[in-house]
Amino acid sequence: MNLKEMVGNKAAEFVKDGMVVGLGTGSTAYYMVEAVGKRVKEDGLSITGVTTSHRTADHAKELGIPLKDINDVEKIDVTIDGADEISDDYQGIKGGGGAHLFEKMVANQSDEVIWIVDDSKLVHKLGAFPLPVEVVKFGCQQVFRLFKEKDMKPSFRKDDNDELYLTDSGNYIIDLHLEQIDNPHELAKWLDSLTGVVEHGLFLDCVTKVIVGTENGPEVKEV
Ligand code: A5P
Repeated sequence: MNLKEMVGNKAAEFVKDGMVVGLGTGSTAYYMVEAVGKRVKEDGLSITGVTTSHRTADHAKELGIPLKDINDVEKIDVTIDGADEISDDYQGIKGGGGAHLFEKMVANQSDEVIWIVDDSKLVHKLGAFPLPVEVVKFGCQQVFRLFKEKDMKPSFRKDDNDELYLTDSGNYIIDLHLEQIDNPHELAKWLDSLTGVVEHGLFLDCVTKVIVGTENGPEVKEV
């Protein structure tokens, strides 16, 4: 079994009858959605899923997981999602799959947030993974220029056809190649203040449990 599948399966154990469950996006979250779908089908687990992308919504529907729109739930009991980097102090970068806007909105409404990763995602400090910043199309070159002036090494994300990548909300993504982020809170505050930035991939003080896949099995860390 690969490590992503291992943590996906482990995370599904934390889903209980009657819960509203935020379903993350990405290649690791994929296995969690599979495992939750299996429990719904085979064990009669009764849950309501809230999805974080069109991709995950399609997958969950295929598996017969009952879904509700985020606007139709008052709160979410637990959200399970992948991450691109997790630092020593459990701050994260997400959005490698371009879904960080919906992922953050779902996580912010959740009592518990579980991140599932293989051990390659654990880092001392954030920043080796490019930080995704979702921007509206209008005026995006100005935001890009600002990042360039500040030596943040921006690049517009492209899709497989070499076209500008479009998020589920029809926005672009600028990836910042920062190498190391010394003060994630300060950076997040600055990015939050920029007009034209919809959301960035810094997920700070957000996670409550991390499940790490290792060769010796899944390790569950309470945060
Ligand atoms: C989606 O936009 C992301 O936030 C993913 O959750 C993150 O990129 C982890 O993805 P993988 O599990 O595919 O590495």
